[in-house]
Amino acid sequence: MSKIKYQTLTGMHDVLPQDQVYFKKIQKAVESVAGYYSFEKIETPILEFAEVFQKAVGDDTDIVGKEMYTFRTKGGDMVCLRPEGTAAVMRSYLEHGMHNLPQPIKLWYIGPFFRYERPQAGRFRQFHQFGFEIIGEGSPSIDGQIIQMSYDVLKELGFKNLTIEVNSIGDSECRPYAKKILTSYFKSRRSSLCSDCQRRLKENPLRILDCKEEKCQRVKASAPQIIDHLCEKCHLHFKEVLEFLDELELPYTLNPYLVRGLDYYTKTVFEIVETTEDGKSLGTLIGGGRYDNLSKMLGGRDTPGCGSAAGIERISSLMKTRGMKLGPKVEEPKIFLAQLGQLAKRKSMKLFEELRAAKIPVAESFSKDSLKAQLRTANKLNIRWVLIFGQKEALEDFITLRDMDTGIQKEIKLDKVVQEMKDKIKK
Ligand code: HAM
Repeated sequence: MSKIKYQTLTGMHDVLPQDQVYFKKIQKAVESVAGYYSFEKIETPILEFAEVFQKAVGDDTDIVGKEMYTFRTKGGDMVCLRPEGTAAVMRSYLEHGMHNLPQPIKLWYIGPFFRYERPQAGRFRQFHQFGFEIIGEGSPSIDGQIIQMSYDVLKELGFKNLTIEVNSIGDSECRPYAKKILTSYFKSRRSSLCSDCQRRLKENPLRILDCKEEKCQRVKASAPQIIDHLCEKCHLHFKEVLEFLDELELPYTLNPYLVRGLDYYTKTVFEIVETTEDGKSLGTLIGGGRYDNLSKMLGGRDTPGCGSAAGIERISSLMKTRGMKLGPKVEEPKIFLAQLGQLAKRKSMKLFEELRAAKIPVAESFSKDSLKAQLRTANKLNIRWVLIFGQKEALEDFITLRDMDTGIQKEIKLDKVVQEMKDKIKK
């Protein structure tokens, strides 16, 4: 038999106890912002029909074409591990007839997502996202609200130099024209593009604007800009979004190259990036945009939507390396419960439970038998009050309280312990 490898799969990772505090802090910030804006939580399954993402995100995108975990079940269904949340939330909206409810529907989510990415720093094959989606309302104020909320979460977590990059990529009316102009521009400079972009030229020329290759930067720099070719409707929508951002005093810049790699986007796309003091980008923390065609792409009725999502690992690792504040710590115990002998151990477990019910934080070391070792632990934890439950105490229903500062001990009747300790820690 071959030996089991004690390691995670490439790109998969454990969220260890020491990292849980960051995840928790992020979830709390998201929950508080979502609650304030009256968003409700939704959970969709990790497995979906592959078709949901093939139709929504697009077959020729990297996410679906290269990175999706797709397989056939024993029943013959072609399914996948969800690579993102928006298409799944829209699938749920359509499946449950949420258009019958008062619109818009505001939803938030948090959980694991899967993309078979090339191993690289900060990119995982299983990662976590939180996201906000507003479905059923096309007003530019919604774009403003999503951007504001995304910004709020990062601010609440202590991020300082943030810039919102925004662009509009038009809709099904004006995008074909913008695409045509871009295609003819890039075709005439084909040999100056990287090999990936030469392929993109055939499949989706808009994505060339997103390319990070050095070679393509020069070609991109003088490429026609989509915002110059928007139809009147999209132009007005974008103008109003920017007016909202001005009114909200959010720090934004126009990025005419921002297109984002998913097919369902229409009109507004945005990313919130962290920058150095002098404005150099340090990377994207949250991305999103409007997706007015997504419902139709999934076979539903014409329903607008807008949302955003962020990778939790990235945010959490930045918070960790910067030593960002985690807020007030959980209350540290001021009491230690020590025990000696089997009967006392059993009884002290019951007392521990009574103290928990009274919300008195208590440390213990039930797995240790020697009193000396337990007192050493109490000392290490800097705890003043130690409750000692020994053989005699267990038989006669009292407990010994030791003040570690003075060494003075006193006996307390068992039914008085909770009240007495409550008074002690209040002082
Ligand atoms: P996305 O840009 O593909 O958008 O992903 C959002 C965020 O998830 C990224 O900015 C990144 O932080 C994180 N992320 C993506 N892939 C990985 C990975 N392999 N490892 C670690 N983090 C990753 C979406 O997913 C859209 N659904 C966003 C959206 C919501 N648009 C409208 N509503």
